Amino acid sequence: MDGTGDFDHYPISEQIVGAQLGDRWVSAAWSDGLISRFHHVWLRDNCPCAACVHQGTREQTFELLDIPPDPMPSSAQATGNALVVTWPDGHVSVFHAGWLRAHGYDTPSAASARTLWDASTLAAPPAFDGPAVLADDGALYEWLIALRTYGATLLHHVPCTDSAVGDVASRIGIVRETNFGVLWDVWSEPDPVTNANTSLPLPPHVDLPTREYQPGLQLLHCVENEASGGLSILIDGFRVAAALRERHPEHFATLTTVGWNWANRSKTTDYRWTAPLIVTDHTGEVVEVRAGNWLRAPLVDAPFDQVEAAYAAYRAFFALTYEPEFAVTFRLEPGDLMAFDNRRILHARGAFTDPPGEHRRRHLRGCYTERDELHSRIRMLERARRASAAHANL
Ligand SMILES: [Fe+2]
Repeated sequence: MDGTGDFDHYPISEQIVGAQLGDRWVSAAWSDGLISRFHHVWLRDNCPCAACVHQGTREQTFELLDIPPDPMPSSAQATGNALVVTWPDGHVSVFHAGWLRAHGYDTPSAASARTLWDASTLAAPPAFDGPAVLADDGALYEWLIALRTYGATLLHHVPCTDSAVGDVASRIGIVRETNFGVLWDVWSEPDPVTNANTSLPLPPHVDLPTREYQPGLQLLHCVENEASGGLSILIDGFRVAAALRERHPEHFATLTTVGWNWANRSKTTDYRWTAPLIVTDHTGEVVEVRAGNWLRAPLVDAPFDQVEAAYAAYRAFFALTYEPEFAVTFRLEPGDLMAFDNRRILHARGAFTDPPGEHRRRHLRGCYTERDELHSRIRMLERARRASAAHANL
Protein backbone atom coordinates (compact mmCIF):
# COMPACT_ATOMS: atom_id res chain seq x y z
CA MET A 1 0.00 0.00 0.00
CA ASP A 2 1.51 3.25 -1.10
CA GLY A 3 -1.12 5.28 0.70
CA THR A 4 -2.40 7.31 -2.22
CA GLY A 5 -5.64 5.60 -3.16
CA ASP A 6 -4.79 5.38 -6.86
CA PHE A 7 -2.20 3.92 -9.23
CA ASP A 8 -0.24 7.09 -9.95
CA HIS A 9 3.17 8.04 -8.55
CA TYR A 10 3.63 11.10 -6.37
CA PRO A 11 7.20 12.19 -5.73
CA ILE A 12 7.36 14.16 -2.48
CA SER A 13 8.71 17.56 -3.49
CA GLU A 14 7.68 19.29 -0.24
CA GLN A 15 7.28 17.92 3.27
CA ILE A 16 4.28 18.59 5.50
CA VAL A 17 5.81 20.43 8.44
CA GLY A 18 2.71 21.40 10.41
CA ALA A 19 -0.99 20.63 10.79
CA GLN A 20 -3.57 22.75 12.55
CA LEU A 21 -7.00 21.36 13.36
CA GLY A 22 -9.69 23.98 12.89
CA ASP A 23 -13.47 23.94 13.32
CA ARG A 24 -14.18 23.05 9.69
CA TRP A 25 -10.85 22.31 8.06
CA VAL A 26 -7.25 21.23 8.65
CA SER A 27 -4.51 23.67 7.65
CA ALA A 28 -1.40 21.90 6.41
CA ALA A 29 1.90 23.80 6.35
CA TRP A 30 4.41 22.81 3.67
CA SER A 31 8.19 23.09 3.78
CA ASP A 32 8.11 25.81 1.09
CA GLY A 33 5.81 27.99 3.21
CA LEU A 34 2.56 27.22 1.42
CA ILE A 35 -0.49 26.65 3.63
CA SER A 36 -3.22 24.38 2.21
CA ARG A 37 -6.63 23.98 3.81
CA PHE A 38 -8.62 20.75 3.55
CA HIS A 39 -12.20 20.53 4.80
CA HIS A 40 -12.87 17.78 7.33
CA VAL A 41 -15.52 16.19 5.13
CA TRP A 42 -13.13 16.26 2.15
CA LEU A 43 -10.42 14.51 4.20
CA ARG A 44 -12.79 11.84 5.43
CA ASP A 45 -14.17 11.33 1.91
CA ASN A 46 -10.68 10.88 0.47
CA CYS A 47 -9.27 8.52 3.07
CA PRO A 48 -7.09 6.10 1.06
CA CYS A 49 -7.02 3.26 3.61
CA ALA A 50 -7.84 -0.35 2.74
CA ALA A 51 -11.24 -0.06 4.43
CA CYS A 52 -12.20 2.91 2.27
CA VAL A 53 -10.55 2.03 -1.07
CA HIS A 54 -10.51 -1.42 -2.69
CA GLN A 55 -6.84 -2.24 -2.99
CA GLY A 56 -7.20 -4.17 -6.23
CA THR A 57 -9.21 -1.62 -8.17
CA ARG A 58 -8.27 1.49 -6.19
CA GLU A 59 -11.91 2.46 -6.41
CA GLN A 60 -13.82 3.66 -3.37
CA THR A 61 -15.83 1.28 -1.28
CA PHE A 62 -16.47 4.09 1.21
CA GLU A 63 -19.75 5.91 0.68
CA LEU A 64 -20.33 9.45 1.85
CA LEU A 65 -23.61 8.43 3.48
CA ASP A 66 -21.65 6.04 5.75
CA ILE A 67 -20.59 8.99 7.91
CA PRO A 68 -22.31 11.93 9.59
CA PRO A 69 -22.58 15.08 7.41
CA ASP A 70 -20.10 17.05 9.52
CA PRO A 71 -17.24 14.73 10.54
CA MET A 72 -14.81 16.23 13.06
CA PRO A 73 -11.31 14.73 13.46
CA SER A 74 -9.95 14.05 16.90
CA SER A 75 -6.49 15.04 15.77
CA ALA A 76 -4.37 16.03 12.77
CA GLN A 77 -0.60 15.55 12.72
CA ALA A 78 2.15 16.30 10.25
CA THR A 79 4.85 13.64 9.93
CA GLY A 80 6.84 15.13 7.08
CA ASN A 81 5.90 12.61 4.41
CA ALA A 82 2.26 12.43 5.48
CA LEU A 83 -0.70 14.09 7.13
CA VAL A 84 -2.28 11.77 9.68
CA VAL A 85 -5.91 12.45 10.60
CA THR A 86 -7.58 10.45 13.37
CA TRP A 87 -11.38 10.25 13.68
CA PRO A 88 -13.44 9.75 16.87
CA ASP A 89 -14.40 6.18 15.92
CA GLY A 90 -10.70 5.26 15.76
CA HIS A 91 -10.46 5.39 11.98
CA VAL A 92 -7.07 6.75 10.86
CA SER A 93 -6.52 8.46 7.51
CA VAL A 94 -2.93 8.78 6.30
CA PHE A 95 -2.46 11.21 3.42
CA HIS A 96 0.73 10.84 1.38
CA ALA A 97 2.42 14.25 1.09
CA GLY A 98 2.95 13.97 -2.66
CA TRP A 99 -0.66 12.98 -3.25
CA LEU A 100 -2.00 15.70 -0.94
CA ARG A 101 0.11 18.37 -2.61
CA ALA A 102 -1.12 17.26 -6.04
CA HIS A 103 -4.74 17.47 -4.90
CA GLY A 104 -4.66 20.81 -3.09
CA TYR A 105 -7.75 22.78 -3.99
CA ASP A 106 -7.06 25.84 -1.85
CA THR A 107 -4.91 27.61 -4.43
CA PRO A 108 -5.85 28.97 -7.86
CA SER A 109 -5.64 26.25 -10.48
CA ALA A 110 -2.96 26.38 -13.13
CA ALA A 111 -3.50 28.45 -16.26
CA SER A 112 -5.56 26.90 -19.03
CA ALA A 113 -3.78 24.20 -20.98
CA ARG A 114 -5.24 25.75 -24.12
CA THR A 115 -3.79 28.54 -26.27
CA LEU A 116 -6.17 30.25 -28.67
CA TRP A 117 -4.60 31.26 -31.99
CA ASP A 118 -5.21 33.06 -35.23
CA ALA A 119 -3.12 33.60 -38.34
CA SER A 120 -1.08 36.33 -36.67
CA THR A 121 -0.01 34.12 -33.77
CA LEU A 122 0.28 30.75 -35.52
CA ALA A 123 1.62 30.75 -39.08
CA ALA A 124 1.13 27.00 -39.45
CA PRO A 125 0.03 24.13 -37.21
CA PRO A 126 2.87 22.87 -35.00
CA ALA A 127 4.56 20.07 -36.96
CA PHE A 128 6.14 16.82 -35.77
CA ASP A 129 7.80 13.77 -37.30
CA GLY A 130 5.33 10.96 -37.94
CA PRO A 131 7.72 7.98 -37.66
CA ALA A 132 9.10 9.38 -34.38
CA VAL A 133 5.58 9.73 -32.98
CA LEU A 134 4.82 6.15 -34.00
CA ALA A 135 7.98 4.75 -32.40
CA ASP A 136 8.91 6.93 -29.45
CA ASP A 137 6.86 7.92 -26.39
CA GLY A 138 8.85 11.11 -25.89
CA ALA A 139 7.98 12.32 -29.40
CA LEU A 140 4.40 11.16 -28.88
CA TYR A 141 4.15 13.24 -25.71
CA GLU A 142 5.45 16.41 -27.39
CA TRP A 143 2.92 16.00 -30.19
CA LEU A 144 -0.02 15.35 -27.85
CA ILE A 145 0.76 18.36 -25.68
CA ALA A 146 0.73 20.55 -28.80
CA LEU A 147 -2.55 18.97 -29.88
CA ARG A 148 -4.09 19.71 -26.48
CA THR A 149 -2.72 23.26 -26.45
CA TYR A 150 -3.40 24.46 -29.99
CA GLY A 151 -6.08 21.98 -31.05
CA ALA A 152 -4.36 21.54 -34.42
CA THR A 153 -1.11 19.83 -35.43
CA LEU A 154 0.65 18.33 -38.43
CA LEU A 155 2.74 15.22 -38.74
CA HIS A 156 5.15 14.79 -41.65
CA HIS A 157 6.53 11.62 -43.24
CA VAL A 158 3.70 9.33 -42.14
CA PRO A 159 3.94 6.20 -44.35
CA CYS A 160 1.53 6.52 -47.30
CA THR A 161 -0.45 3.38 -46.61
CA ASP A 162 -4.17 2.93 -46.13
CA SER A 163 -3.76 1.82 -42.52
CA ALA A 164 -1.26 4.41 -41.26
CA VAL A 165 -3.86 6.90 -40.02
CA GLY A 166 -5.26 4.17 -37.77
CA ASP A 167 -1.79 3.36 -36.50
CA VAL A 168 -1.25 6.99 -35.57
CA ALA A 169 -4.68 7.29 -33.93
CA SER A 170 -4.02 4.14 -31.93
CA ARG A 171 -1.02 5.88 -30.40
CA ILE A 172 -3.62 8.15 -28.77
CA GLY A 173 -6.33 5.64 -27.93
CA ILE A 174 -9.44 3.89 -29.19
CA VAL A 175 -10.62 4.85 -32.66
CA ARG A 176 -14.28 5.82 -32.91
CA GLU A 177 -16.22 4.00 -35.58
CA THR A 178 -19.02 5.86 -37.38
CA ASN A 179 -21.29 5.28 -40.36
CA PHE A 180 -18.22 6.09 -42.49
CA GLY A 181 -16.43 3.08 -40.99
CA VAL A 182 -13.36 2.88 -38.74
CA LEU A 183 -11.02 4.37 -41.33
CA TRP A 184 -12.48 6.21 -44.30
CA ASP A 185 -11.51 7.91 -47.54
CA VAL A 186 -11.85 11.53 -48.60
CA TRP A 187 -11.64 11.76 -52.34
CA SER A 188 -13.78 12.78 -55.28
CA GLU A 189 -15.96 9.86 -56.30
CA PRO A 190 -18.74 9.43 -58.83
CA ASP A 191 -21.50 8.54 -56.36
CA PRO A 192 -20.61 10.40 -53.16
CA VAL A 193 -22.54 10.00 -49.89
CA THR A 194 -21.23 13.32 -48.59
CA ASN A 195 -20.12 16.64 -50.06
CA ALA A 196 -16.69 15.83 -48.63
CA ASN A 197 -16.35 13.17 -51.33
CA THR A 198 -16.79 15.57 -54.22
CA SER A 199 -14.25 18.05 -55.57
CA LEU A 200 -16.36 20.96 -54.30
CA PRO A 201 -14.97 23.48 -51.85
CA LEU A 202 -15.96 22.74 -48.26
CA PRO A 203 -16.70 25.73 -46.05
CA PRO A 204 -15.39 25.79 -42.46
CA HIS A 205 -16.97 22.98 -40.49
CA VAL A 206 -16.57 20.31 -37.90
CA ASP A 207 -17.39 16.70 -38.75
CA LEU A 208 -20.61 15.08 -37.61
CA PRO A 209 -22.38 18.05 -36.02
CA THR A 210 -25.38 15.85 -36.70
CA ARG A 211 -24.47 13.65 -33.72
CA GLU A 212 -25.40 14.16 -30.11
CA TYR A 213 -21.73 13.68 -29.32
CA GLN A 214 -19.45 15.02 -32.03
CA PRO A 215 -16.08 13.24 -32.33
CA GLY A 216 -13.49 14.99 -30.20
CA LEU A 217 -10.52 14.44 -32.51
CA GLN A 218 -10.11 13.99 -36.23
CA LEU A 219 -7.07 12.72 -38.13
CA LEU A 220 -6.70 13.26 -41.88
CA HIS A 221 -3.74 11.67 -43.62
CA CYS A 222 -2.77 12.66 -47.15
CA VAL A 223 -1.87 9.44 -48.99
CA GLU A 224 -1.76 10.98 -52.45
CA ASN A 225 -2.17 14.46 -53.84
CA GLU A 226 -1.77 15.03 -57.55
CA ALA A 227 -4.67 17.46 -57.74
CA SER A 228 -4.55 21.16 -58.39
CA GLY A 229 -6.27 23.26 -55.72
CA GLY A 230 -7.70 21.59 -52.65
CA LEU A 231 -5.75 23.69 -50.16
CA SER A 232 -6.48 22.90 -46.52
CA ILE A 233 -7.67 25.56 -44.10
CA LEU A 234 -7.78 25.38 -40.31
CA ILE A 235 -9.48 27.94 -38.07
CA ASP A 236 -9.50 28.04 -34.28
CA GLY A 237 -13.24 28.05 -33.62
CA PHE A 238 -12.68 29.07 -30.00
CA ARG A 239 -10.70 32.11 -31.17
CA VAL A 240 -13.53 33.04 -33.53
CA ALA A 241 -16.03 32.57 -30.72
CA ALA A 242 -13.93 34.86 -28.50
CA ALA A 243 -13.88 37.50 -31.23
CA LEU A 244 -17.63 37.21 -31.69
CA ARG A 245 -18.14 37.53 -27.94
CA GLU A 246 -16.07 40.70 -27.94
CA ARG A 247 -17.38 42.32 -31.13
CA HIS A 248 -21.00 41.17 -31.17
CA PRO A 249 -22.01 40.01 -27.69
CA GLU A 250 -25.67 39.82 -28.68
CA HIS A 251 -24.86 37.34 -31.47
CA PHE A 252 -22.64 35.36 -29.12
CA ALA A 253 -25.52 35.16 -26.64
CA THR A 254 -27.86 33.94 -29.38
CA LEU A 255 -25.45 31.26 -30.64
CA THR A 256 -24.92 29.89 -27.12
CA THR A 257 -28.63 29.69 -26.29
CA VAL A 258 -30.58 28.94 -29.46
CA GLY A 259 -30.36 25.43 -30.84
CA TRP A 260 -29.66 24.83 -34.54
CA ASN A 261 -30.98 21.79 -36.30
CA TRP A 262 -28.45 19.43 -37.86
CA ALA A 263 -29.13 16.37 -39.99
CA ASN A 264 -27.31 14.03 -42.32
CA ARG A 265 -29.36 13.33 -45.38
CA SER A 266 -28.51 9.81 -46.33
CA LYS A 267 -30.03 6.79 -47.99
CA THR A 268 -28.93 4.58 -45.10
CA THR A 269 -28.80 6.68 -41.92
CA ASP A 270 -30.80 9.52 -40.38
CA TYR A 271 -28.75 11.21 -37.69
CA ARG A 272 -30.19 14.43 -36.29
CA TRP A 273 -29.37 16.67 -33.39
CA THR A 274 -30.33 20.11 -32.13
CA ALA A 275 -27.75 22.12 -30.22
CA PRO A 276 -26.32 25.64 -30.06
CA LEU A 277 -23.52 26.50 -32.44
CA ILE A 278 -21.32 27.58 -29.53
CA VAL A 279 -21.39 25.63 -26.26
CA THR A 280 -20.16 27.13 -22.99
CA ASP A 281 -19.61 25.19 -19.78
CA HIS A 282 -20.73 26.00 -16.22
CA THR A 283 -17.92 28.59 -15.93
CA GLY A 284 -18.88 30.38 -19.16
CA GLU A 285 -15.85 29.09 -21.05
CA VAL A 286 -16.36 28.03 -24.68
CA VAL A 287 -15.91 24.25 -24.85
CA GLU A 288 -17.40 23.30 -28.20
CA VAL A 289 -18.39 24.63 -31.58
CA ARG A 290 -20.84 22.89 -33.86
CA ALA A 291 -20.80 23.94 -37.48
CA GLY A 292 -21.23 22.46 -40.94
CA ASN A 293 -23.10 24.35 -43.61
CA TRP A 294 -24.19 21.35 -45.64
CA LEU A 295 -25.36 19.47 -42.55
CA ARG A 296 -27.74 22.14 -41.34
CA ALA A 297 -31.35 21.04 -41.35
CA PRO A 298 -34.30 23.40 -41.60
CA LEU A 299 -34.33 25.47 -38.43
CA VAL A 300 -37.45 24.23 -36.65
CA ASP A 301 -36.46 24.02 -32.99
CA ALA A 302 -35.68 27.71 -32.42
CA PRO A 303 -38.38 29.76 -30.69
CA PHE A 304 -40.42 31.60 -33.31
CA ASP A 305 -39.37 35.05 -32.13
CA GLN A 306 -35.66 34.10 -32.22
CA VAL A 307 -35.42 32.74 -35.77
CA GLU A 308 -34.27 35.99 -37.37
CA ALA A 309 -31.79 36.63 -34.55
CA ALA A 310 -30.48 33.09 -35.02
CA TYR A 311 -29.87 33.71 -38.72
CA ALA A 312 -28.18 37.06 -38.03
CA ALA A 313 -25.91 35.46 -35.42
CA TYR A 314 -25.07 32.58 -37.74
CA ARG A 315 -24.06 35.03 -40.45
CA ALA A 316 -21.91 37.00 -38.00
CA PHE A 317 -20.04 33.88 -36.88
CA PHE A 318 -19.34 32.60 -40.37
CA ALA A 319 -18.42 36.04 -41.67
CA LEU A 320 -15.62 35.98 -39.09
CA THR A 321 -14.43 32.54 -40.24
CA TYR A 322 -13.95 33.98 -43.73
CA GLU A 323 -11.77 36.83 -42.48
CA PRO A 324 -8.13 36.02 -43.33
CA GLU A 325 -6.97 36.90 -39.83
CA PHE A 326 -8.34 33.62 -38.48
CA ALA A 327 -7.43 31.10 -41.18
CA VAL A 328 -4.21 29.12 -41.62
CA THR A 329 -3.93 27.74 -45.16
CA PHE A 330 -1.55 25.09 -46.45
CA ARG A 331 -1.31 22.24 -48.92
CA LEU A 332 -1.33 18.69 -47.63
CA GLU A 333 1.43 16.71 -49.29
CA PRO A 334 1.65 12.92 -49.33
CA GLY A 335 2.81 11.80 -45.89
CA ASP A 336 1.26 14.79 -44.10
CA LEU A 337 -1.29 14.06 -41.42
CA MET A 338 -3.31 16.76 -39.74
CA ALA A 339 -4.78 15.98 -36.35
CA PHE A 340 -7.17 18.41 -34.76
CA ASP A 341 -9.81 18.89 -32.10
CA ASN A 342 -12.99 18.35 -34.08
CA ARG A 343 -15.11 20.22 -31.52
CA ARG A 344 -12.82 23.26 -31.53
CA ILE A 345 -11.09 23.60 -34.90
CA LEU A 346 -13.05 24.34 -38.06
CA HIS A 347 -11.53 22.79 -41.15
CA ALA A 348 -12.18 23.68 -44.77
CA ARG A 349 -10.75 22.96 -48.20
CA GLY A 350 -10.68 24.63 -51.56
CA ALA A 351 -12.15 23.11 -54.69
CA PHE A 352 -9.75 20.81 -56.51
CA THR A 353 -9.27 19.15 -59.88
CA ASP A 354 -7.84 15.69 -60.31
CA PRO A 355 -5.34 15.34 -63.16
CA PRO A 356 -6.98 15.11 -66.62
CA GLY A 357 -8.43 11.69 -67.30
CA GLU A 358 -7.80 10.45 -63.79
CA HIS A 359 -9.73 10.48 -60.55
CA ARG A 360 -9.20 10.00 -56.84
CA ARG A 361 -5.73 11.51 -57.09
CA ARG A 362 -6.31 13.65 -54.01
CA HIS A 363 -6.73 10.95 -51.45
CA LEU A 364 -7.00 11.46 -47.72
CA ARG A 365 -7.55 8.69 -45.18
CA GLY A 366 -9.29 9.71 -41.99
CA CYS A 367 -10.55 8.53 -38.63
CA TYR A 368 -11.95 9.87 -35.38
CA THR A 369 -11.06 9.44 -31.76
CA GLU A 370 -11.94 11.42 -28.64
CA ARG A 371 -10.58 14.18 -26.41
CA ASP A 372 -10.88 11.72 -23.52
CA GLU A 373 -8.40 9.42 -25.25
CA LEU A 374 -5.96 12.29 -25.75
CA HIS A 375 -6.14 13.42 -22.14
CA SER A 376 -5.86 9.87 -20.80
CA ARG A 377 -2.81 9.15 -22.98
CA ILE A 378 -1.11 12.36 -21.86
CA ARG A 379 -1.75 11.45 -18.20
CA MET A 380 -0.46 7.91 -18.71
CA LEU A 381 2.72 9.18 -20.38
CA GLU A 382 3.21 11.59 -17.48
CA ARG A 383 2.57 8.78 -15.00
CA ALA A 384 5.21 6.66 -16.72
CA ARG A 385 7.65 9.56 -16.45
CA ARG A 386 6.94 9.93 -12.73
CA ALA A 387 7.32 6.17 -12.24
CA SER A 388 10.71 6.08 -13.92
CA ALA A 389 11.79 9.20 -11.98
CA ALA A 390 10.73 7.51 -8.73
CA HIS A 391 12.56 4.34 -9.77
CA ALA A 392 15.71 6.30 -10.59
CA ASN A 393 15.62 7.87 -7.13
CA LEU A 394 15.58 4.50 -5.34
FE1 LIG B 1 -14.56 17.37 -42.73
